[in-house]
Amino acid sequence: MVPTVEWKDNQVRILDQSLLPGEVCFLDCTDFTCVAEAIRELKVRGAPAIGVTAALGIALGARQYSQTNLDGFQRHMDNVCEVLAATRPTAVNLFWAVDRMKRVLAATPLTSLDICQQRLLEEALAMLEEDVRVNQTLGKYGAAIIQDGDSILTHCNAGALATAGYGTALGVVRAAWEEGKTLRVFADETRPVLQGARLTAWELQEDGIPVTLITDNMAGALMQKQQVQCCIVGADRIAANGDVANKIGTYSVAVLAKAHGIPFYVAAPISTIDLETPNGEGIPIEERNPEEVTQLHGSRMIAPVGVSVWNPAFDVTPAHLISGIITECGILSPHELPTKVSS
Ligand code: MRU
Repeated sequence: MVPTVEWKDNQVRILDQSLLPGEVCFLDCTDFTCVAEAIRELKVRGAPAIGVTAALGIALGARQYSQTNLDGFQRHMDNVCEVLAATRPTAVNLFWAVDRMKRVLAATPLTSLDICQQRLLEEALAMLEEDVRVNQTLGKYGAAIIQDGDSILTHCNAGALATAGYGTALGVVRAAWEEGKTLRVFADETRPVLQGARLTAWELQEDGIPVTLITDNMAGALMQKQQVQCCIVGADRIAANGDVANKIGTYSVAVLAKAHGIPFYVAAPISTIDLETPNGEGIPIEERNPEEVTQLHGSRMIAPVGVSVWNPAFDVTPAHLISGIITECGILSPHELPTKVSS
C-alpha cells in the first residue's frame, strides 16, 4: 500500500485521496496551511490519519519559524495548532494529536529552537508509527470475531487510507485474511463523497482481498438475504457512554443489523474514545458543502440548482446497537468504557 502520509525531504507528503481511484498523486506540503487545507478538503481523511497528519503539520509549522525570538516561537506555535485544530470538528483524534504535540512543546525547555523543532518532529513520527502498531494489535483482537467463510459489511473507509497504515475496521479484515480465513467484504459506496466506492474498494482490491461494492440502499436487502454475517465500521469519536459518531449512514447500517440479528462492531483505537463527552448528543457533527450532494464529484449537477440541502458528514449510533468496540486493549463493551479506559 502507498503511505497515506509521510515525512519526506522535510515536507509533509500526502496521498491525495480526493483523486483516488483514478489517479495516485501526492501533495508535498512545505507549509502547515497546506496541510490544514488538505485535511479540510478530504485529501487526507479518516480520524486516525487526520490526527497523525495534523501532528506532522505542527512539526512542519515549527520548522517554518525563521526568526530567533523564542517568545515569538511560542506565539507562532499557538497559531499553527489553532489553524490545524480548526480544520474538522468531529474526529477527536485531531484534538488528541494537537494536545499531545502541545504537551511535548510545553515539556521542552524553550532554550533552543533546533531542539524544540526536533522534539516535535520526533513526536509526530512516533505517532505515525504507533498508529500502525495499534491497528495491527486491534486487528488481531478483532479477527477472532470473523469465522472462516464470513462476509463482512463495512461503511465508508476505515482502512489503511484512513490511518497511518493497516486500518481499523479493515485492519480487522486484514488480520483475519492474514490468518488464512476465507472472507468477503461488502463495501457500502457511502454517499455523498463515496469513500466506500473510491477508497475501500480500491485498497482491498490492491491487497487482493475479495470485495463487492453495493450502493448504500442495498444493505437491507443484503442482510435480508442472509449474505452478511457481521458489520464492522470505524469511528470518529466515541462518547463515554459508548455512543459512536462515524460517517453518515453508519446509524442506518446499525439499525438494519439489529433488525436482522447481525452483530455490529466498531473498530477504533483508544485515542478515538472521548471520555469528556458524556454521550452522542455532545459530539459536534460537521456539516459540509451542499455541492457534495447536488453534484457528482464536483462537476455534473444531479439536483436542481438552488435546492435546499442537508449534508451532515457523520451520524451517531447509540451504544445499545453496538455489539463491541474493538480496540488495541481488546474488545470492549460500549457500556464499560469509563472503567476500562483512563482519560
Ligand atoms: O469524512 P471522512 O472520510 O474523514 O470520514 C471517515 C470516517 O467516517 C471513518 O469511518 C472514521 O474516520 C474511521 S477511520 C479509521
